[in-house]
Amino acid sequence: MKELNVKVPAVQETSYPIIIGSGLLSKAMKMVNDKFPRYAKFIVSDICVANAGLLKTLDPQGNIPKFIINPAGEQSKTIQTVISIVEQMEKAYMGRDTVIIALGGGTVGDMAGFAAAIFKRGIPVVQIPTTTVAQADSSVGGKTGVDSTISKNAFGSFHHPAMVIIDIQTLMTLDDRQYMAGLIESVKHALIMDAEYFDFIESNIENITARKTEILEAIAEKNCRIKASVVENDPTEKNQRRALNYGHTIGHAVESASNFDLLHGESVAIGIVAAGLIEEEMSLADNAQHKRIRNILARLNMPAKIPASISQQQIIELLKRDKKAINSWPKFVLLEKIGKVHCIDNQWAIDVDEKLIRKTLPKLY
Ligand SMILES: NC(=O)c1ccc[n+]([C@@H]2O[C@H](COP(=O)([O-])OP(=O)(O)OC[C@H]3O[C@@H](n4cnc5c(N)ncnc54)[C@H](O)[C@@H]3O)[C@@H](O)[C@H]2O)c1
Ligand SMILES: [Zn+2]
Repeated sequence: MKELNVKVPAVQETSYPIIIGSGLLSKAMKMVNDKFPRYAKFIVSDICVANAGLLKTLDPQGNIPKFIINPAGEQSKTIQTVISIVEQMEKAYMGRDTVIIALGGGTVGDMAGFAAAIFKRGIPVVQIPTTTVAQADSSVGGKTGVDSTISKNAFGSFHHPAMVIIDIQTLMTLDDRQYMAGLIESVKHALIMDAEYFDFIESNIENITARKTEILEAIAEKNCRIKASVVENDPTEKNQRRALNYGHTIGHAVESASNFDLLHGESVAIGIVAAGLIEEEMSLADNAQHKRIRNILARLNMPAKIPASISQQQIIELLKRDKKAINSWPKFVLLEKIGKVHCIDNQWAIDVDEKLIRKTLPKLY
């Protein structure tokens, strides 16, 4: 037997720009062309984004090759859609010198990003997020993927975008429920990293719900700074990046038990309330702090209770099957105070006993 070693050079450090503004969509193709002058362009979007008029603003002539996902949303976030995207690109004679432009919410970004990761072993993707979720969260960080029939994001890859263009104006056509639920990721960013940002959200809540442009620009910038700094410190989610999971452990369980009747942000809002109750139980934070947090969530029309149709046992079962569970039980991200995660031995997600969770759950009904 012989063994040879093949040295793999370390991946070169790269960076990508995030451009934030109002009315950028009509200039986005020029930005992409300036960055990729010799590349072919291929747009991936979905039918609702197209019907909202955003595709026309990006590509007024309609002559850029494209794939429009139909129906829009999670139900299309499958490997079959990614295959269709790749095959459509082949039919349009796209080569490795192609850049994919993802115009839409998190589902479009995840599918287009994953298609870019695997098309001819990887081509660049430019993300143009159009929802509060995508602008605060999914467009930055490089996670891409699609669901299997068994679980969410079962197929996936880290594939960082070459550029992110955030146009606040695109949020104006988003429906109220989606708009508000997506803001929960902004609240989460403030809670885990930045107490001043939380104050800012609190004092501007009316302007935020009224979709005031300057406030939304400030929020987009803050979100990207926070997400980028966490991702820079921990690109492949070994430790600090787990902080972004605040409210998501119980949130994911509620989301999946509701059969996705609850939106992601709505479920995470319940998860944030749950985390608060666990923090109180563990004497980490006081009730006054939770009142502030619950008040913001209520102002964003978020539910604070688990729907009665979901049993406590169902939540426990789902927690045991959590993607991040070790020995069938997940770790939890908890706050010490607003803006600061409670770390033990430098670990951002910590052990919480099942008994304590069982004691907390009844308070969420
Ligand atoms: N990759 C990551 O790091 C990451 C992070 C968070 C969430 N996600 C993923 O993101 C997805 C959720 O994203 P989402 O909430 O943006 O959902 P989405 O992409 O399904 O968009 C929600 C709905 O709004 C429509 N829409 C989008 N933009 C619009 C606009 N400007 N005007 C009118 N309608 C518009 C869409 O067509 C869709 O019907 C989930 O699949 C989740 O797993 C990924
Ligand atoms: Zn989330």
